[in-house]
Amino acid sequence: LSGPSRLALLSFLLLAACEGRQSALVPGGEDARILGDLFWVMLAGAVVLWFGMNGLFYWATRRSPAAHSQRIANWLVILGGIAFPTVTLSALLVYGLSIMPDLRATGDGPVIRVTGEQWWWRVEYEREDGSTVTTANEIRLPAGVRSTFLLDSKEVIHSFWVPSLGGKMDMFPGRVNEMTLGPERPGIYRGQCAEFCGESHAWMAFEAEVMEPDAFEAWLEAEAAPAVTPASAEAARGAALFLSQGCGACHAVRGTPAVGRVGPDLTHVGSRHSLAAGRLGTSTEDFAKWVANPGAWKPGAEMPAYDHLTGEQIDAIAAYLEGLE
Ligand code: CUA
Repeated sequence: LSGPSRLALLSFLLLAACEGRQSALVPGGEDARILGDLFWVMLAGAVVLWFGMNGLFYWATRRSPAAHSQRIANWLVILGGIAFPTVTLSALLVYGLSIMPDLRATGDGPVIRVTGEQWWWRVEYEREDGSTVTTANEIRLPAGVRSTFLLDSKEVIHSFWVPSLGGKMDMFPGRVNEMTLGPERPGIYRGQCAEFCGESHAWMAFEAEVMEPDAFEAWLEAEAAPAVTPASAEAARGAALFLSQGCGACHAVRGTPAVGRVGPDLTHVGSRHSLAAGRLGTSTEDFAKWVANPGAWKPGAEMPAYDHLTGEQIDAIAAYLEGLE
């Protein structure tokens, strides 16, 4: 790359990281604010060290060669090169350690189990009556309380991270890692798998919607309900095709004979903000694109292509899924 294009690429990457929905520096909650402050304090420390050390170094090399001048320069190098960084780095370490208890605070909100799978997120809410509400690729959280996340993985290591809400945590198969997040500002934030987990790692995103507590409760209640019946003749044809094509072997649509557990639960897929873990939108066209050939959008995806169906049949299935609100 030439100089200017390298500069353009670098500015693009820097600016891309500043997009509010997925930025550790635009906090939507307590944890992200603490971590954002940590970043700025560390940056300030690094700036002080860089200028301090280089200033001393420059000054020392400018001393005259006279013996007494050299002695002073030696002392400055010893003090500046050892004492100054030791004090600065120790102060930063103490500050870094002091914030850790705040990030470990216990949860007083919902308990959410999130399982990483290649390449999507299984999301299960444990309700007070002991029942479970299953959804996928979207996490909704009430503002003002700390939600607890129980994180694990089906097959390889993934990492759960919503930069605007807090730190990240790895997800291992056969082990449950616990973390809490305290979102404060309602909004839709973007999460992304932060550990390379295979060819479609980059397409393993999700959305975290922080809601007012009442709206959250209403959403959870609606999410627990069985699927709506198809509203149009086309959607009804899609529902029949969905079953006859065997989609229900992998996917669940609660309230119908589809009870598969291999792929995402689709009971309310039409009300989600994105499809295929952030890869596509949720218009009927997006559903059709996905059903016809998932591998085109997410290489390596386990779901097979349904390109043996006619366009009309795919559109019917898409209409059915899009209507599952
Ligand atoms: Cu899952 Cu990267």
